[in-house]
Amino acid sequence: MFGKTTHIIQKNTLTKDDLTYLISLKGDERDYFLKKIGENYVQTLGKKVFFRGLVEFSNYCTKDCLYCGIRKSNQSSDRYDIDDDEILKAAKFAYTNNYGSIVLQSGERNDPIFIKRITNLLKKIKDITDGKLGITISLGEQTEETYQAWFEAGAHRYLLRIETSNEELYYKIHPKDTNHNFQNRINCLKSLQKVGYQTGTGVMIGLPFQTYEELADDLLFFQDIDIDMIGMGPFIEHTETPLYQHKDKLWSLQRRFDVTINMIASLRLLMPDINIAAATALQAIDPMGREKALKYGANVIMPNITPTIHRKDYTLYENKPCTDEGAEDCSNCLNIRVEMADREVGYSEWGDSKHFFSRT
Ligand code: 5AD
Ligand code: FES
Repeated sequence: MFGKTTHIIQKNTLTKDDLTYLISLKGDERDYFLKKIGENYVQTLGKKVFFRGLVEFSNYCTKDCLYCGIRKSNQSSDRYDIDDDEILKAAKFAYTNNYGSIVLQSGERNDPIFIKRITNLLKKIKDITDGKLGITISLGEQTEETYQAWFEAGAHRYLLRIETSNEELYYKIHPKDTNHNFQNRINCLKSLQKVGYQTGTGVMIGLPFQTYEELADDLLFFQDIDIDMIGMGPFIEHTETPLYQHKDKLWSLQRRFDVTINMIASLRLLMPDINIAAATALQAIDPMGREKALKYGANVIMPNITPTIHRKDYTLYENKPCTDEGAEDCSNCLNIRVEMADREVGYSEWGDSKHFFSRT
């Protein structure tokens, strides 16, 4: 039974055809594939899942990506920018609750005041957590100099999704102007690696016009640039964005969900020692979305610790889960969810990407 899948799982080198096959699996053969990956990866990586407290501290953005709810042209988005004191409180919360690390994320800004503010904030977070809280940042495209300054101030991991590794598709979902440049995004990932960050990227799955072959290329792209961490989730259309006009061309939400899980499992097969996040967008489609991701290859989860009053405004996509819960509710809820997925929380650990240490 399922000879082709069994054969692919045992191979040493995976081709684009192999990956395309796995990503598009359906039905019983898909169930078999997912179960096998789930079993194999617990044997190599263990059952530990790492928490990253996510602080979405501002939705002001200078970018205009055609899919995103906080794009600068969306006049109906209520903009906010959380005070540094509140961000520090959230960091302290993560530290006291033994999360091990946090992720600071916002819309993209490149002005000197913002850059300096982040440098100072990183230093303060290190100060108030005895240097022990790990800090990941996700603040878009910046110069290598800025990446260096933030690294020296205490950040050690950086997330910058490529969104799609296919240049043609990239320009279908981003405006064609100097502010949205595919090559620049790749150069940023290379700068981050050069500076010394554990570097993360990722893609959206189920974009209009996207094919299984392109998704297979995305996985090979991750391997090719030797990435340490991945966060990838289903594309979810947002009514107040230009890409909404293509809603008729989209796969069903269920299909986007299933293919995302297939992508996670296929990537776990391709890159056994990287960190893979169970994206929050999965839960916007299936209430058990993140648990399923943890079962079939993901080992990182990002509880939202953004102060609750601001959560509803960080709407990259609609139907975003956990917008009413407080940080305490989220961590209790996630604890239970991790156990339901038969995994354990790795408290107080940074949960670094094992791949990073073999790469550097
Ligand atoms: N659907 C799913 N994911 C989205 N993102 C932005 N807009 C959407 C959307 N409509 C993702 C992008 C970005 C990350 C922070 O959120 O991949 O990198
Ligand atoms: Fe936020 Fe469950 S993770 S309420």
